[in-house]
Amino acid sequence: MDKTIEWKDDCSLMVDQTLIPFEYKKIKIKTSKEMYNAIKTMIVRGAPAIGIAGAHGMCLAAKELYEENNFIKKLLEKAQYLNSARPTAVNLSWAINEQKKVIENNKNETPKKILNALIENAIRLENEDILINKKIGDFGASVVPLGAGILTHCNAGALATVGYGTALGVIRSAYKKDSSISVFADETRPRQQGARITTFELVRDNIPVTLITDGMCSYFMKKGMINFVVTGADRIAANGDSANKIGTSTIAIAASYYNIPFYIAAPKSTIDMSIKSGNDIVIELRDENEVKIINGKSVCAEGTKVINPAFDITDSGLIKGIITEYGIFKPNELQKIFS
Ligand code: MRU
Repeated sequence: MDKTIEWKDDCSLMVDQTLIPFEYKKIKIKTSKEMYNAIKTMIVRGAPAIGIAGAHGMCLAAKELYEENNFIKKLLEKAQYLNSARPTAVNLSWAINEQKKVIENNKNETPKKILNALIENAIRLENEDILINKKIGDFGASVVPLGAGILTHCNAGALATVGYGTALGVIRSAYKKDSSISVFADETRPRQQGARITTFELVRDNIPVTLITDGMCSYFMKKGMINFVVTGADRIAANGDSANKIGTSTIAIAASYYNIPFYIAAPKSTIDMSIKSGNDIVIELRDENEVKIINGKSVCAEGTKVINPAFDITDSGLIKGIITEYGIFKPNELQKIFS
């Protein structure tokens, strides 16, 4: 399987997601600063993918610093810098922490050896990500009804991970079992990850997909055309409250009204047991121009105020199950994964 982000030729090779669907192009990220900017500007996006980007960022930082004095101190400062690129997806800090463990375990080795250990660990995380997503996909497929009309939001696919995807992993596995399912992707304003990236992935895999706008979901739920929902997550609190792309909670509320099962598909690394509930999750606020400007032109009157939160919190009570690589859990059962 083609990795959408991987360590190659001493740098991070990733798909530039801002170009999708017009171009599928890989770019080389060669410095930790370039990596910070790639995460911030969403050249790489999606919780697991930015986790791997963070792990690669640590390798790039080690490459920059290994001949300097105070190598470890400077490297740990870079960890903080990379981690500050985006606040909501816990996978970024999780993967950077995995790299910090490598630094701690090798602290008596030479800087060059630490660099090599960081690269080795980053490649391990890449490979694990694909295996985890396949497990998530297969567990999830077991609860997809025959012939389902599945709604997904944003992009939780191969491009949001290293490969296969989480929510799209469920859809990929379900489609292998039952080619009569159909998929609804909503646009996902303002960055259009559903319209641009999810449709791109599904069309490329020959999985039937219908694009709808964000406000249309209850129309199709009422008509019986959507009877299953699966999305990814950026951070799941200990009680199961889940942060995901803005608009997810609206869909979950509509699904609950129409008695439609709403699932989250995410790896263990997206679960943050240090956070009790969604109230404590930091929501990233992004530039107002993402909302105001479409195709280079303002779509509102000058002087209009805009607030642009990138994520919302879906209350655990609205979530039927959280599909992980360890199986499917009710939101109040997450502790089982950690014990
Ligand atoms: O702002 P984005 O595009 O990084 O937000 C991505 C999402 O909200 C995804 O649904 C989530 O990261 C899960 S990706 C497997």
